[in-house]
Amino acid sequence: MLRDNKELWSALVFCILITGVYGAVVVSNQGIPAASDFFGHTLGIIGFVLMLMTETLYSLRKRSRLASWGRLSSWLKFHIFMGLTGSYMVLLHTSWKFNGLAGATTLLTIIIVCSGFIGRYIYTRIPRTMDGLEIEGTLSQEALKRARQLMSLWHTIHIPIGIALFISAFVHMGAALYYATFLK
Ligand code: HEM
Ligand code: HEM
Repeated sequence: MLRDNKELWSALVFCILITGVYGAVVVSNQGIPAASDFFGHTLGIIGFVLMLMTETLYSLRKRSRLASWGRLSSWLKFHIFMGLTGSYMVLLHTSWKFNGLAGATTLLTIIIVCSGFIGRYIYTRIPRTMDGLEIEGTLSQEALKRARQLMSLWHTIHIPIGIALFISAFVHMGAALYYATFLK
């Protein structure tokens, strides 16, 4: 389950390592790597792929009936790890400029990560099996009902933010590749 926070610690270690690599590139370049440089571009692409996996894989596993796909709770941990590390790589990709649509995409990324932490908090309030399935009867029915209502309210906010984020990211990628890469 999520109570051991392993996925948060692993994401923190990964982000520290990638910050070290980023710092080394800043020193050797004598400046912030541009979003369209090899390094900045690579960060953007890998980060985005991780975010895309975050958006899709857990939902696919949640709706799959194939037990051999591994525990749902492990997939949620993986979801959180990729969501944090992918978003952080994309943040380093921005070269700390947040103009126009690309800036709005970054803002949506930050919002979805914050919303993820709220969802994670509500999720852990509901008693579950090791596989992540809800357990009936361990909490008072009233408290359990409230936690479920909150979780479903959270889903109705979190999912559209994710969709808006990916639409704006795809438009940004198309425009950035066209103007900053292919027209050069
Ligand atoms: C959610 C994912 C992404 C976010 C939030 C994001 C955000 C940003 C931001 C804030 C900038 C700086 C814009 C400015 O100069 O004000 C930027 C630049 C850029 N991004 Fe992304 N990006 C993402 C994914 C990608 C991907 C996957 C690619 C490549 C396929 C890409 C290609 C570029 C390029 C080429 C630039 C430089 C544009 C220029 O120099 O005018 N980005 N991005
Ligand atoms: C790129 C960032 C992220 C995206 C695009 C994203 C997207 C999603 C989507 C689409 C769902 C709905 C899954 C479903 O019910 O089918 C979801 C659920 C969830 N996400 Fe994320 N997420 C991101 C980051 C995070 C982060 C950083 C956390 C925690 C810190 C998190 C925690 C959760 C939790 C707890 C659920 C609910 C699981 C459930 O009810 O079964 N997410 N996320």
